[in-house]
Amino acid sequence: MSKNSLIYNNIFVYRLLMNLLYKGNYKRRFAGICKLIFGTKVTELCFGDIIIAEYCKTNKIDWKGIDINEKFTSQAIKKGHNAELNDINRLEKFPKADTCIMCGSLYHFNGSLENLFSRLLECAPRIIISEPIINLSNSKGIIGKIAKLSATVKGQKQNFRFTKETLLETLSNLSAKFNFKFQIIEQFEKDLIILITR
Ligand SMILES: C[S@@+](CC[C@H](N)C(=O)[O-])C[C@H]1O[C@@H](n2cnc3c(N)ncnc32)[C@H](O)[C@@H]1O
Repeated sequence: MSKNSLIYNNIFVYRLLMNLLYKGNYKRRFAGICKLIFGTKVTELCFGDIIIAEYCKTNKIDWKGIDINEKFTSQAIKKGHNAELNDINRLEKFPKADTCIMCGSLYHFNGSLENLFSRLLECAPRIIISEPIINLSNSKGIIGKIAKLSATVKGQKQNFRFTKETLLETLSNLSAKFNFKFQIIEQFEKDLIILITR
């Protein structure tokens, strides 16, 4: 079986290390995303943690999450969330929702963004993307080491990261092709939060 980074093998280790990467603001980073949720049905792709799922539960929003990591999906299921273990590259369609969310994961799909976006736009009229635009893998010390650890999923190392310029250029090209609107909502720590509507 192919291996995940240490960071992806245990949700508690994951939270600890992510909190270091977000300078203690790991949980707070989801507040900016949650406030953009619209409607009663959310599909979260590559969810990793259940912070958005918990928000949805509290607010009576139907949440469905998909992730390739069995540790993360089993933890979510144990907590009563509707999580599915799957590689989203293998899914022809994503579950229909009012809002579709992808946080911290777009860079994994850089080689197949057109394919991904056609499915995202089919999935929901409102898409929230939160994406790191500062590559901490190049940082010195513990932060750089943690960022490098978070770059391996199922034995595949992901060296690619967006910058603000490349992310916005990519979204402009995709919006011209697929005819959607996008706006930057805010930058939180190293992430740009973007709202996409048709
Ligand atoms: C950097 S983590 C981000 C997790 C979480 N969304 C966050 O922002 O903290 C990337 C997540 O994408 C998941 N992932 C990567 N490739 C995937 C794929 N092909 N299908 C489903 N999930 C995938 C990983 O298991 C991991 O949970």
